Amino acid sequence: MSVPTVVHHNKLSEIYDKATVQVPRYEALLKKFEERYGTKKPDLLIRSPGRVNVIGEHIDYCFFSVLPMAVEADIIMAIQLTDEPVIEVANTNPDFPATKFDLPKDGSPVDIDATKSDWVNYFRCGLVVGQDYLKKNNYPCTKGIKVLIDGNVPTGSGLSSSAAFVVCSTLCTLLANGYTDVSKKLLTQLSTVCEQHVGVNSGGMDQSASIWGLKDHALFVSFLPDLNVVEFGFPETNPKLEFVIANSLVVSNKQETGPVNYNLRVVEVTLGALLMAKKLNLTIKPDGNLQAGTFRGVVDAYFANDKTPYGQDIEDSRKKLDKMIELVDELITQKDGYTTEQIASELEMSVDELKTKFMTKYPVRYEVLKLYRRAYHVFTEAKRVLDFLSLLQNPPADSQKLIADLGNLMNQSQDSQRDYFNNSLPQLDEICSIARENGAAGARITGAGFGGSTVLLTPANKSQQVIDALKKDYYKKHYPKITDEELADALLVSKPGSGTTIIDNLSLE
Ligand code: ATP
Ligand code: GLA
Ligand code: MG
Repeated sequence: MSVPTVVHHNKLSEIYDKATVQVPRYEALLKKFEERYGTKKPDLLIRSPGRVNVIGEHIDYCFFSVLPMAVEADIIMAIQLTDEPVIEVANTNPDFPATKFDLPKDGSPVDIDATKSDWVNYFRCGLVVGQDYLKKNNYPCTKGIKVLIDGNVPTGSGLSSSAAFVVCSTLCTLLANGYTDVSKKLLTQLSTVCEQHVGVNSGGMDQSASIWGLKDHALFVSFLPDLNVVEFGFPETNPKLEFVIANSLVVSNKQETGPVNYNLRVVEVTLGALLMAKKLNLTIKPDGNLQAGTFRGVVDAYFANDKTPYGQDIEDSRKKLDKMIELVDELITQKDGYTTEQIASELEMSVDELKTKFMTKYPVRYEVLKLYRRAYHVFTEAKRVLDFLSLLQNPPADSQKLIADLGNLMNQSQDSQRDYFNNSLPQLDEICSIARENGAAGARITGAGFGGSTVLLTPANKSQQVIDALKKDYYKKHYPKITDEELADALLVSKPGSGTTIIDNLSLE
């Protein structure tokens, strides 16, 4: 079987749905590139998109499958290579000031101060993982890089500008140093660990969606036994299915809020998995973001003697998840949460050991650890993803029913995030209610939540009504001074776009 490698294109029309809108953007980027680096012709030009997740939230780092798609908005990097071991990083957006730094002479990795919120760290982490891989594979990695970056994925908005960014910075490092035949899988594996270097202990969904994205297709991404991405189109329905993205405009910076939001959830799901394993007397693989075990590990160990492994058959996997949901209820007895002392005692370790193992590299703050709620969300959400996929694969003949069923799953996902994973906000709930009242079949947070965007599944004949209602009842109410341009960026019908691209000999067509 051939190994899929990162796609090359030279025409913008091969990459974007509305290429004409992109032409002035690329022209402006190249003009600024010339002003800064003295030539209009970059040695390398690459782009990688943001993503919207249709369903399957906060389960990628528990190693359950998710269903995202790439969006058209992306990060572009125009790159000049030099033999001087210096990295120069600049941005077309003046909010992100330029920096220059030396590559360490002894070949050691560049420093990243993860305690600082610095946009250039998102470039440095691509350098670190790229160089590490190159060194292990005997590639020299001494090339100097001068890069100019242009991004239009809104930041901190749930559309994963960070993944688009680190996929580009990792790819840039590999290509710059002569590693040209980059497989999509390698790029996914390398870029997935990038954000861990900037203090965000995230999973692999966003990078997978950004790299493997395909026009008009969503992706079913599985992480075990190995990364596997299956592309699929949506069934023909009447009316057509559309996805509207509505940004709450509440910015959630994952790195800054990690100790109480994202990184804390990673600790909670890890401890939840260990608690279940302990009570079931199971040995689970010490993998996952904290290298200690995952809920998926509990499933695999619990059904180790079953003839059908989890993930092989949808129907069977759903049954396995039902069993897990029962076990969560039975085994995680303290429904309101565990104090540090309580969970340490359950896991038969000292508080010091618990803190050192799970809370030192990524510090967290909490009163109690809500293991039951997190576990309940993860297993029910993993099941909703399979239910969603199964509906797409075997759609009911009646389009209305299909749309309603898909929408219900998205609504249940939102309720579970609000009530069990606690990553919603009143603003996100409000957008979902307005959308549903005005014809959306389903409405939910997309991405990490705690702010950011929602994804709304709408029959095409209702999209405008949903958009108009949100303009009036959400945006104009909360942001009375919002401009038409800001509104157009915040609220749009989104089509699945293409994934990471290397642009050779750019032709502005
Ligand atoms: P989410 O992770 O919720 O989907 P997100 O990825 O947009 O949303 P973060 O993970 O917080 O949000 O990452 C945002 C950070 O990524 C920014 O604060 C900035 O450091 C970096 N970043 C993203 N896009 C750009 C860009 N165009 N230029 C410079 N830095 C960027
Ligand atoms: C962020 C992370 C992903 C995933 C989502 C929540 O986008 O980067 O890995 O965990 O949150 O589903
Ligand atoms: Mg992000």
